[in-house]
Amino acid sequence: MKNPLGGLAKKSYLVRELQRKGQAVVLLDGGNLLFGKTLLKDLERPQLTLKASKIVEAYNAMGLDAAGVGPMDFADGLESLLRLLKDAQFPVVCSNLVWKDTGSPVFRPQILVQRGGLSIGLVGALDPAVKIEGLGRDAAKVRVQPIYQSVRKAARLLRGEGADVVVLLSAIDPKKIRVLATNGGDVDLFLGGDPKDKLMIPYRVKNALVAGSSQLGKYVGHVELSRGADGSLDLKHAFVPMKLNRPEEPKVKRIVDSYYRAVAKFRTEGSRMYVKENEEAVNLAHDKPVYASAEECKACHRAQYDRWRASRHARAYAALPDAARRQMECVECHVTGFGKWGGFDGVTKAPDLTGVQCEECHGPGSSHPATASVRAGEAARSVCRKCHTRSRSPDFNAREYLSRLGCGGAAR
Ligand code: HEC
Ligand code: HEC
Ligand code: HEC
Ligand code: HEC
Repeated sequence: MKNPLGGLAKKSYLVRELQRKGQAVVLLDGGNLLFGKTLLKDLERPQLTLKASKIVEAYNAMGLDAAGVGPMDFADGLESLLRLLKDAQFPVVCSNLVWKDTGSPVFRPQILVQRGGLSIGLVGALDPAVKIEGLGRDAAKVRVQPIYQSVRKAARLLRGEGADVVVLLSAIDPKKIRVLATNGGDVDLFLGGDPKDKLMIPYRVKNALVAGSSQLGKYVGHVELSRGADGSLDLKHAFVPMKLNRPEEPKVKRIVDSYYRAVAKFRTEGSRMYVKENEEAVNLAHDKPVYASAEECKACHRAQYDRWRASRHARAYAALPDAARRQMECVECHVTGFGKWGGFDGVTKAPDLTGVQCEECHGPGSSHPATASVRAGEAARSVCRKCHTRSRSPDFNAREYLSRLGCGGAAR
């Protein structure tokens, strides 16, 4: 599940509800749980590492049984991940990440959980084809071994210990799932979803069920395991939507709230620190264009300005609820030049760089047209996907959105 803090209090309540009904619950996370991205920017580090530690705290309180790891968990590097997990009261499983010097696994390859009269085997794995961007210098210390052999070996060990079911906790390519499921991978249930975080409809390959988690933690995947009269296992799946009005578990909500209270502080301190630490570089690059704001473009590009003013891009910051304006991970796509020289930093009030302004697409324009030109044509057309991601903008279609944007064309 991708960076789930916001919804955890609701999920926790749901689990307690099932337990109150007398159901045996195994609570699992498929990985990519700590960070919503593969690499942290300096500006984001204080806030997002705090968030990651709160996710660990919340999962401790919920009694998570195990989690897998995904490439995004390494967004702040290996050392930082291991430090965060020191406080985890749940095991993290991964069968194919090993230390290069000793060959021993970095995490536990597999574990067996006894619950409701069943022995449930849990295996983790990383997809070797996916580059782990956040590893950086530590990439030389570890190796991701081939996935098929590692998972098969872990599953065999689990069956040897009496596992009734084997579950793989890992967001891997659906093609690899198919190979594992058809070539004796011996996994009954694949959890972890699509690595691209699309909402995935569960499907079966042979006898295995492939049931991912969902888009941005908007749903919880609920799999019910039961034994039929003939002793065979039955797996049923449902998505439980995490709607706004769902009740929240107080213990976990307190942890989530403590994070949101701390965020307001980071927003200002974090960005000031960034500018201060980079003062020298800012001065050296004094002739680099900075963000001037849409108001500066208006005099010469009236037609584009008027169309932009009336667009949703101009209102993108205004549309954010107050709480979201304090979160860098919301703000970054709803303002101009976030994290860039002279771009929106949350502290500087003038020029006003809220909303998705001209320079988000055309580049910083303080030296234009005097000494520099700005991005146009194809260079401007190719920036959309940075924010219109599959999960945030599922209906995005370049041709249609460009024509709706309707920039350019008209005379200056
Ligand atoms: C003083 C008038 C003036 C201002 C202010 C101005 N522009 Fe321009 N802009 C021009 C002129 C003249 C051209 C055509 C020459 C050129 O491409 O540099 C132009 C061209 C452009 C082009 C097309 C470039 C190309 O290569 O086809 C874009 C895009 C653009 N401006 C965006 C902006 C943005 C964004 C701002 C505000 C940050 C802005 N302009 C401010 C006068 C201006
Ligand atoms: C990766 C970029 C990105 C991030 C991060 C992001 N958004 Fe957005 N947001 C978008 C885009 C793109 C749209 C417009 C989608 C469309 O209409 O196709 C949008 C639309 C919206 C809208 C208005 C559209 C509607 O459905 O009413 C709101 C409100 C919003 N986002 C809130 C948030 C909040 C709150 C967060 C943080 C939790 C957030 N966004 C984080 C890119 C982002
Ligand atoms: C910095 C992030 C960002 C970039 C880059 C960006 N957008 Fe957006 N876009 C948004 C956000 C956020 C919204 C929603 C604003 C709102 O409704 O509050 C949005 C909304 C839109 C809408 C309105 C959608 C609707 O249903 O009415 C269109 C059209 C659009 N964008 C097209 C584009 C195109 C085309 C590009 C690339 C040339 C682009 N955007 C680049 C963030 C971005
Ligand atoms: C969401 C991204 C986005 C925003 C915001 C935006 N533009 Fe554009 N603009 C583009 C794209 C993409 C093109 C090229 C259109 C095409 O090729 O179809 C363009 C074209 C232009 C052109 C004509 C040059 C050309 O390549 O045809 C000018 C001038 C311009 N924009 C100025 C502005 C100004 C001024 C603003 C703000 C008031 C603004 N744009 C806001 C994306 C944007």
